[in-house]
Amino acid sequence: MNDQYRTPYYSGLLAYIAKHRASFHMPGHKRGRGVHPDFKAFLGENVFLLDLTEVQGVDYLHKPTGILREAMDLLADAYGAKESFFLVNGSTVGNQAALMAVGGPGKKILIARNSHRSVVGGLILNGSMPVYLPVNVDPELGITTSVSPEVLREYLDKNDVDAVFLTNPNYYGVSGNIRELVDIVHEHGLPIVVDEAHGAHFHFHQALPLSAVDAGADLVVQSTHKTLSSMTQSSWMHMNGDLVDVELLKAALRTLQSSSPNYVLMASLDVARMQMATEGAELLSSALNVAQYLREAINEIPGLQCFGRERVGKYGIFDVDLTKITITVLGLGLTGYKVEQLLNDELGVEVELSDPNNILAFVTIGDDYDNADKLIKAMSNLSERFFGKLPPLETAAVHTFPVLPEVVLTPREAFFAEKKVVPFREAVGAISAESVVLYPPGIPVIAPGERITEESFDYVMKRKEEGAEVQGTADPELEFIQVLK
Ligand SMILES: Cc1ncc(COP(=O)(O)O)c(C=O)c1O
Repeated sequence: MNDQYRTPYYSGLLAYIAKHRASFHMPGHKRGRGVHPDFKAFLGENVFLLDLTEVQGVDYLHKPTGILREAMDLLADAYGAKESFFLVNGSTVGNQAALMAVGGPGKKILIARNSHRSVVGGLILNGSMPVYLPVNVDPELGITTSVSPEVLREYLDKNDVDAVFLTNPNYYGVSGNIRELVDIVHEHGLPIVVDEAHGAHFHFHQALPLSAVDAGADLVVQSTHKTLSSMTQSSWMHMNGDLVDVELLKAALRTLQSSSPNYVLMASLDVARMQMATEGAELLSSALNVAQYLREAINEIPGLQCFGRERVGKYGIFDVDLTKITITVLGLGLTGYKVEQLLNDELGVEVELSDPNNILAFVTIGDDYDNADKLIKAMSNLSERFFGKLPPLETAAVHTFPVLPEVVLTPREAFFAEKKVVPFREAVGAISAESVVLYPPGIPVIAPGERITEESFDYVMKRKEEGAEVQGTADPELEFIQVLK
């Protein structure tokens, strides 16, 4: 039998549970017996039986030698990686540990400016100085796309950096030329980390963009809970080549991850790997068919547009993950934020995110045509109500701040420096001690150590007025911000 059908970790836990030993250890709910009956009535018993702790025979995340070792080896085999790691704090901890492994005080890291806020966390942890890479923009969709290979080469030639960190694909499934990007970094003898949070499924289907693991990136972080079937907060990371100090990476993971990792999450990773390795291509073909049905139906609805591969070759778009359904709604005379609100409040449909120009719907292996029909029906309803009755809107400025910041201090220096709190509008010219992150897509506009400019201030205020949520600052309303004294 193909080894990939095995689930050594999940099966090992089931065998342990079957032994029915008297337990005098954590977790305190003691196989669910101590859980409030209302909660248990909803969740059922099994989830509590599986919620084990590090007892003999069920292996240790921080020192895997048994069933977890086997499960992670099968994961590495499934992706063709040299070594793979289960993560229990999302891709957030993967990005942070990766940055600790390739960075450190006094080092410089070339980072694409469209990186997720967890990357700022990684820089605070590793003490490195970021050198930001500009990212291409699609002016019609109003989103950032990918880093150009020529730009990467130019920045590597001009800057003496120790590693490169890229995000690929973006939230909307747009992928850059990852093979060429990885090759360019390797020509310079440097390691490349790829945040592939939105691409854990790529490796398993030929019609999807190339995975950074297959392109030979040194570290690749994937949010399995976003596009595969594992549970929220579970993720994994793959390592290839010998440019990364694997012992440092493991030490970083031991430092950052809980000493009580959740066994339900890790079992869900083991099963998700088995599912993908054994029937991933089939499941993803069905998801792609549902997505194509949805894309074609949406493109028939007046006022709406949903892009596909015809955009390849423009604005840094090298490939497109067709499971992602980006619906540009400006033709209705409404912003993406307004459409998301109407879908939520009136039409019983929840999407992944909205921005000034678009809404984004994810199609995964959990979808079917019935679910797709609900979105089509809801979007038809909105088109009938608004198309032709309101003037179409112009594409709003790109919803990810396109200007590269002036980095004065490392994020770590700014994080620990003496600070004062000032009204946000009086902070222009000062050095920020906080991240200002607009959600979606969770990318910082301002990071600690950067000078706040008139442009970044105006940009944040405009996005906020349009309906974007601000995260990252102590003051949730961002009337005040912490800057360096
Ligand atoms: C590009 C990117 N990287 C990393 C993350 C963090 O992933 P997680 O939520 O699994 O910690 C996200 C989350 O949205 C993301 O979009």
